[in-house]
Amino acid sequence: MINKNSPIPIYYQLEEHIKELIEKGELKPGDVLPPEREYAEKHQISRMTVRQAFTQLVNEGYLHRIQGKGTFVAERKIEQGLQGLTSFTEDMKSRGLTPGNELLSFKLIPATLTIASQLSIKEYDPVYEIKRIRLADQLPMAVEVNHISANLIKGLTEQIVNQSIYHYIEESLGMRIHHAAQTIESSIANSLEAKHLHISTGSPVMLIQRNTFLKNGTPVEFVKSTYRADRYKFMITMNRS
Ligand code: GLP
Repeated sequence: MINKNSPIPIYYQLEEHIKELIEKGELKPGDVLPPEREYAEKHQISRMTVRQAFTQLVNEGYLHRIQGKGTFVAERKIEQGLQGLTSFTEDMKSRGLTPGNELLSFKLIPATLTIASQLSIKEYDPVYEIKRIRLADQLPMAVEVNHISANLIKGLTEQIVNQSIYHYIEESLGMRIHHAAQTIESSIANSLEAKHLHISTGSPVMLIQRNTFLKNGTPVEFVKSTYRADRYKFMITMNRS
């Protein structure tokens, strides 16, 4: 497997070999890797070389280290297309995962100036503020804070937001969600986000902000989501015209 006469660096050969084992399913998410020392002895290479391969695989999201416990195969990232305007519930279902929510809070509050301007309503107009942990197969993926005008989207309840907000808007209210503007930026988890997402404070996360509209331009929601960067990646297809 390792060819010392090859011009390809040894750490890279080992890295590719481990990747292959993961892709073939011979190493599964959660499996622990043999210690660096064992790899080094088995292949007659230095521990530094093994460490270099492991570090590279950690940086690429294939492996993760737990201090004092070892190096483990990471969960596969969920690939999320950026073309369609979909809900979390739809995204998870289309991947064969079971969507879930942990409702952190559900409040009717007067809009602050910022929220009012995002939703094109007046300051102090009633707004639903919904904080949810979004789960896939019961694992936390994101923390999401939605603001929705209560005069536009009527009758939201805890029960509804424990399911799908988009489904309620479209299927129960018969309104059509039409377009959205979304930004994605990288950040690090604060202690509260880390607690909700089961990661350490300071771990990388992706901040996603979405403003969603009806066809006539009326804002439907203003949402801030914090996604685990180790579980999610975004994909976009581009055409050169
Ligand atoms: C995604 C979007 C949110 C949207 C949510 C609706 O997570 N980032 O902006 O509010 O989907 O999801 P659901 O219909 O499952 O409640």
